[in-house]
Amino acid sequence: MSLHQTVRVDLDDRGYDIRVGGGLLERAGEHIAPLLRRPFAVIVTDQHVAARHLDTLKRALALKNIGCEAVILPPGEKQKSYAGFEQLCEALLALKIERRDHLIALGGGVVGDLVGFAASVLRRGMDFIQVPTSLLAQVDSSVGGKTAINSRQGKNLIGAFHQPRLVLADVALLDTLPPRELRAGYAEVVKYGLLGDADFYAWLEQNGAKLLAGDLGLRTEAVARCCAHKARIVAADEREEGERALLNLGHTFGHALEAETGYSQRLLHGEGVAVGMALAFRLSAALGLCGHELAPRVEAHLADSGLPAKLADVDGARAFAPSVLLEHMKQDKKVRDGKLVFILAEAIGRAVQKNDVLPQVVETLLAEQLAAA
Ligand code: GLY
Repeated sequence: MSLHQTVRVDLDDRGYDIRVGGGLLERAGEHIAPLLRRPFAVIVTDQHVAARHLDTLKRALALKNIGCEAVILPPGEKQKSYAGFEQLCEALLALKIERRDHLIALGGGVVGDLVGFAASVLRRGMDFIQVPTSLLAQVDSSVGGKTAINSRQGKNLIGAFHQPRLVLADVALLDTLPPRELRAGYAEVVKYGLLGDADFYAWLEQNGAKLLAGDLGLRTEAVARCCAHKARIVAADEREEGERALLNLGHTFGHALEAETGYSQRLLHGEGVAVGMALAFRLSAALGLCGHELAPRVEAHLADSGLPAKLADVDGARAFAPSVLLEHMKQDKKVRDGKLVFILAEAIGRAVQKNDVLPQVVETLLAEQLAAA
């Protein structure tokens, strides 16, 4: 029997459960069967995840007499492209999926974003279930209905809000992640503490190392707390007209760094968010929003967790130019009326949105930080 916690995303008839715990994949059939209109689903995953987890999911569905097909994609961000999207849609249509069928996204953020977007448009909109296998996907991307592919102009610029019908976050699967990927996902866990829950941040300072080392109970608690936090925000502001933007703490800087490093292994998304959150605290202090002692506290916990915390920690930082990083920021989805929008902090656990930050202040901060590289 798998023990799990349930978090509800309260969106009326589009509301859904996020179930968090160890061993959920093996019992996925029990959780999924009540949603299906016919005993059939299509699993979409990538080659890496398929090698580790596809058979378990298939067996779990078979135990409940659910038939399935699987589409196995090449791994990597490249799949979140027009070409990857076309390939997936054609593969699904070739399987003769029906509008009332469910897709199951088994994988990390790339698979979840791509399958969610395909589900939002295939046959004018189908249901889908998220079975996130990375920490980043379990605490962030699988929850809340943001789906997208990338454009040559930037990441996630073509997409839709399309909520899943269920999220099954099996924290036991995190054991199979490469340590660097696990740590990168942990940056998104830290984000929840920093943006809105000082107690949780203090809890992470105490328990983060044990959680990263593999403690299943702590992982369940952390993932469930993050999901509960996100569920509250999404229920209040599904389409990011207000509070949801706070979930982008660290992302304006982070996306600029990812763009500058070519969205490559030089800097994983969560690593960019880690550096970006520390920079957001530095910028907040420079603007007088919070004390100067907070950024070093944030940097210390990120560094203790094995994450890059300073601009100087990013591979190739010496070659970065502040003006180029600023240009990347201007392509951010958060730009409003041509102005950059930053998520800043008044305290640990109290983030605020600001759209009146002068570009010169940001450029000066980046120049100072790069001088230390
Ligand atoms: N990842 C941020 C959001 O879902 O709003």
